[in-house]
Amino acid sequence: MTGSAPGELWWRGGVCYQVYVRSFADSDGDGVGDLPGVTARLPYLVSLGVDAVWLTPFYPSPMADGGYDVADYRGVDPAFGTLADFDALVADAHRLGLRVVCDLVPNHTSDRHPWFREALAAPPGSPARRRYVFRPVDDHDPDRPPNDWRSAFGGSAWRRVPSPDGWPDEWYLHLFSPEQPDLNWDNPQLRAEFRKIVRCWLDRGVDGLCIDMAHALFKHPDMVDAGAGQHIEFRRNHLMPFFDQPGVHGLYRQWRTMVDAVPGERALIGEVCLFDADRQARYVRPDELHQAFTFELLECDWFAPALRDTIGRTLEAYRRVGARPAWVLNSHDATRTVTRYGSGGGGPRAARARAAALLMLALPGAAYVYQGEELGLPQVDLPDEALRDPIWERSGRTVRGRDGSRVPIPWTADGETYAFSPDGADPPWLPQPDGWGAWSVQRQTADPASTLALYRAAIRLRRKVGENIGAAELTWWDAGPDVVAFRRGDGFGCAVNTGGGAVPLTGVGRVLLASVPAEPAGGALLLPPDAAVWFIPA
Ligand code: GLC
Repeated sequence: MTGSAPGELWWRGGVCYQVYVRSFADSDGDGVGDLPGVTARLPYLVSLGVDAVWLTPFYPSPMADGGYDVADYRGVDPAFGTLADFDALVADAHRLGLRVVCDLVPNHTSDRHPWFREALAAPPGSPARRRYVFRPVDDHDPDRPPNDWRSAFGGSAWRRVPSPDGWPDEWYLHLFSPEQPDLNWDNPQLRAEFRKIVRCWLDRGVDGLCIDMAHALFKHPDMVDAGAGQHIEFRRNHLMPFFDQPGVHGLYRQWRTMVDAVPGERALIGEVCLFDADRQARYVRPDELHQAFTFELLECDWFAPALRDTIGRTLEAYRRVGARPAWVLNSHDATRTVTRYGSGGGGPRAARARAAALLMLALPGAAYVYQGEELGLPQVDLPDEALRDPIWERSGRTVRGRDGSRVPIPWTADGETYAFSPDGADPPWLPQPDGWGAWSVQRQTADPASTLALYRAAIRLRRKVGENIGAAELTWWDAGPDVVAFRRGDGFGCAVNTGGGAVPLTGVGRVLLASVPAEPAGGALLLPPDAAVWFIPA
């Protein structure tokens, strides 16, 4: 909560809104969201009060993994628009006072990227193959991959491919789908090419780059087995020989120097998922990345002692390196909070998601809001035939994957696609459930008790309060075992009740904002279960 504190850099305490481009707004009626759609909706983001917008990959891609399989790092996929559309988006965003962050996917390319096509057409050991991670086939055991690494989407992380002109077959590594071959970051030429790619987006005016799988670029030099404990759900794969290898820090130091030399406050943001606050914090040392996603809150149960412990350890680890967390509760990879924290579409579930939002937005550091989170959208249970996430097929149709958090946004209460697409358009790429309009921006804008109204009020207040408390650290406030409570300086307090019963809270002067109606009586406030309040201490 420091976004607009005088002299504070925008990314250190700002609120950044994540747009999953494919599902945000479709301008041309093909059922797929696009860049002009985003541009048209930028005023909505201004009304929400966020500082920045982060666009998930819109680059040319065969879409084996929703665009995280990039075939050209410098272009725009025709489904999403053109480079001119991108430039128009950036110009409009800047005119409206919004920063723009793009995704950068350096761990792997698409198998259709010219580099990979060139590699397949070239013999083993050639420079083209050295851009990727190829390994020879063992003649004695030709079906056994080079090691036991598993793809995050299921199955082995290796695929065997033929070589040209009678050369022997080789294996190539893919930590994700086989259509996403891993790049070889030990190769200096590859590093040089990526410096130019980073530079190209900075020159186009982006304010930040979000580095996908930032902890995965370098692999253990001996490619040792990972052993038991590998997990198909890739976010839980940590301390593996394909994650958090030392080389990555040198790379980010180089990038940091390069980015800081460009005028403007540009930021490198890492998707680092290590679930070890100290290891995580090493990525945001003063000469490395500006920021790294803090998934600890997203992974934490709705249980006050766990939340206090997680928040405390995270803040302490970041403080030691002089950085601040970038909290995340929702993303295009996670089950939405409304569903994750309970059961059902409304009621207590929604109550927890609302309270969690006030918790996240009160913490020191930046916050990321994923599209639809501000509408309290639930995870959608899609029919089998609608599923597009590669996890579904790769897991032998046992893991449904992430599509349920990617359903197109309802903008209006009624209409064929709730105004996601223009009238008469093709059906949305993922079906919207019946009644989706109840969650729409239109419906919630008219309702002062809506989740959208809560987010708007919270983000506005956060900015205002932030001006006064600046970078004030968090001081815990003891309000009983079921309550996560803290102050930020003298002027701001936050309390969240995760327990089953109402808890009296003393020392509350004035309530600034609450996730459910709550008023103090005689210096004490009865905080209902699954509720949060922001207040000025007495
Ligand atoms: C990141 C993205 C995820 C993608 C993966 C592979 O974790 O958030 O959606 O599947 O990287 O690129």
